[in-house]
Amino acid sequence: FVHQLADESVGMDALLRSPLHLAAQPSLPLPPQLYGAVRPNSRGLDLAVASSRAALEEAFAQADVPAVAPADPAQVPQAVQRALAAGHAWERTPVEHRASVLRDAADAMQADLPRFCALLVKEGFKTWGDAVAEVREAIDFLRFYASEAERIMQPVPLPGPTGESNVLRLTARGPWVCISPWNFPLAIFTGQVAAALATGNTVLAKPAEQTPAVALEAVRLLHAAGVPADALQLLHGPGETVGAALVAEPRIAGVVFTGSTQVAKTIQRALAAKDGPIVPLIAETGGINAMLVDSTALPEQVADAVVQSAFRSAGQRCSALRLLCVHEAVADTVIAMIQGAARELVAGDPAQWRTDLGPVIDDDAWSNLQRHLQRLQREATPLLAPSPFEPGTRLLAPQAFEVKSLEDVRHEIFGPVLHVVRWGGDPREVIAAINRVGYGLTLGIQTRIDSRAEALAREARTGNVYVNRNMIGAVVGVQPFGGEGLSGTGPKAGGPHYLQRFCAEQTLTINT
Ligand code: SER
Repeated sequence: FVHQLADESVGMDALLRSPLHLAAQPSLPLPPQLYGAVRPNSRGLDLAVASSRAALEEAFAQADVPAVAPADPAQVPQAVQRALAAGHAWERTPVEHRASVLRDAADAMQADLPRFCALLVKEGFKTWGDAVAEVREAIDFLRFYASEAERIMQPVPLPGPTGESNVLRLTARGPWVCISPWNFPLAIFTGQVAAALATGNTVLAKPAEQTPAVALEAVRLLHAAGVPADALQLLHGPGETVGAALVAEPRIAGVVFTGSTQVAKTIQRALAAKDGPIVPLIAETGGINAMLVDSTALPEQVADAVVQSAFRSAGQRCSALRLLCVHEAVADTVIAMIQGAARELVAGDPAQWRTDLGPVIDDDAWSNLQRHLQRLQREATPLLAPSPFEPGTRLLAPQAFEVKSLEDVRHEIFGPVLHVVRWGGDPREVIAAINRVGYGLTLGIQTRIDSRAEALAREARTGNVYVNRNMIGAVVGVQPFGGEGLSGTGPKAGGPHYLQRFCAEQTLTINT
């Protein structure tokens, strides 16, 4: 059982079983909201991916991760000037044209899937399973926002008692600054950029310093598909210099940011401090994400969901499980199953097919994790053997600790580290305690009492609630993703309300 569980969670088998996103089904004549429904059953398409293993390996052998020069912050005003100049024509391009450019980009990315996967493995240390899922998600964003822009940017006539012609329409705002993270260097980068472009805005993109080459390739592809060069400009470099200069520029129209809560607040303060218009911020940040397990839950299902949610992608997902709250009646059984499954996971070279967890992204991430683990060694009960890896490798095997109270986990920990706490009594009190932590990104609920799942989900101040399954890998268009409180401003990425936030609204009233 343990072997089977581990193999089903990650590694090569995860590639075979990885979610089938829209990317794998370009020709399905279904409205976007139906793609998720057909996803789990389309086994034939998974096999199509498996058969391209040779293509992935060949792309990896050829993949080049070029050194990318940082931008000079002094270039920012000229970049904004160029964006403003390009924006006039791009905004007036019919939305159907912009959508068709994004769809062409999606087709090109699909055709080039092995190369993008290889770059994600080489530059971002993704496993193959995660890389394939990420390219698919990026393609989904391109197609979904293309369709969404066509849907929402049609003028809405509002006939009424005034006897005039009233029309409400959405318009572009201008240059958006898109600041994206290293943990989804293609999917989140592409999602932010596609949302701004689809709605007729221009983009100044500042990707994470750790993953510039993936962003560079995505921008090349979008330019080749027909996005004008000045409508999408890439500015590499540190957030503290290039990012700060972009945010401080008086003429930008908005900022969309995915990263830490702390940096989101820094951006919010910088936007508020400058003269000129009130600039909107869309922030997606982190979470201390919890899973509540009651005494009726299926232990095998819980163990599978926990292993995937806490350890897949080496725990480097904002959606990842950090805090398992398990009912005391089933705690020993569930913990034993998690221990068995987690021990089977392989941390190692991400280019190897059997690898489940690649290295954490950089030395800072490694040091933060080591500090946290040292504290846990003193204050908590280890449930798994300490990781044997040397510092230079940045490899961490799954780690789990039992803590006394969920209040003991105060900060987001970005790595494969699970905290476990036992509870008894009223599950609503557990949800209330989770709410008090202040984050609100993902929540897992494991119970066989349907009415309880529904009631607890209603109590939770959490953006994405997953019942009786893992809590990662939201699917574009059918599982809109994003949190509240310390976890972000909304609206949800991949959801029906996302694009509106990139737009201004105009009511046109004509006395007829
Ligand atoms: N969208 C990603 C997920 O759902 C973010 O980490 O896992």
